[in-house]
Amino acid sequence: MKVLVDGEIVARSVVKVDMEDRGYQFGDGVYEVINIYDGVPFTLDEHIERLYRSAKEIGMSILFESDHLKQDIRKLIKENNMKKGGLYLQVTRGVAPRTHQYQKDISSKLIAYPLPYKEMAETRSSGVTAITEQDLRWLRCDIKSLNLLYNIMIKQKSYEQGAFEAILIRDGLVTEGTSSNVFIIKDGTIYTHPATNLILNGITRQKLLEVFLENGWTCKEQPFTTKELMEADEVFVTSTTSEVVPVISIDGKSINNGIPGSLTRKIQQAFSNTVK
Ligand code: PDD
Repeated sequence: MKVLVDGEIVARSVVKVDMEDRGYQFGDGVYEVINIYDGVPFTLDEHIERLYRSAKEIGMSILFESDHLKQDIRKLIKENNMKKGGLYLQVTRGVAPRTHQYQKDISSKLIAYPLPYKEMAETRSSGVTAITEQDLRWLRCDIKSLNLLYNIMIKQKSYEQGAFEAILIRDGLVTEGTSSNVFIIKDGTIYTHPATNLILNGITRQKLLEVFLENGWTCKEQPFTTKELMEADEVFVTSTTSEVVPVISIDGKSINNGIPGSLTRKIQQAFSNTVK
């Protein structure tokens, strides 16, 4: 495997992380996961824009211009001969003696490498189960931070219960999943949490909002309660890696009699048309 390290493409075997890298010690950095369809990075501009925004929000500068980075990413895909799968891209603040505060002049460290293709067709077609959990994360969930401790604690809990995702609830309102955005459908209207500091504004989410407009499907970006979630006609979660996944049971209670809903199916189809 070839890896992009600070503007250079090198073999995976020579990639090393310094013990004083602030990403390693503090989770001081940001990341993106990008899908590759037919050798092309999907919504690359949007992902790179969000990466630079996340970096700016934590006061970190990325050493490369975004156009340069996009070129490097295309080169990486080519050198790995990737047709499908994903890309993991992270930037940490860099290497410095361990103190919580940081010097502004340290050089950030960038790494990007291919993620293997994961077959999700069966999951998308049959739907998944989910659990609900309290959202006890910090209040800057809009930043795609490397700090994912609460997300992984709760994802692991859902995994151990045989569920695909945990849907997070803050103050009685559904925010998002541990690694996905959450949508419900009630009486033909789609609802999802607005893009505030309480959620990550998913690129899949943003693409879907466009797809809804194009298809004349009404979507309200407004918070909904746990009760509304449980009583929804249809529920689905979205992310780069999973795209649009129907949720057919939450905390053991069936949604839409335990089968993916018909509007969700149409949304899946419309989304997959955009990636082709
Ligand atoms: N996670 N919300 C959270 C907390 C996420 O971690 C993700 C994605 C999303 C969906 O964002 P997008 O549509 O841009 O992938 C929402 C990625 C895939 C991950 O951590 O692997």
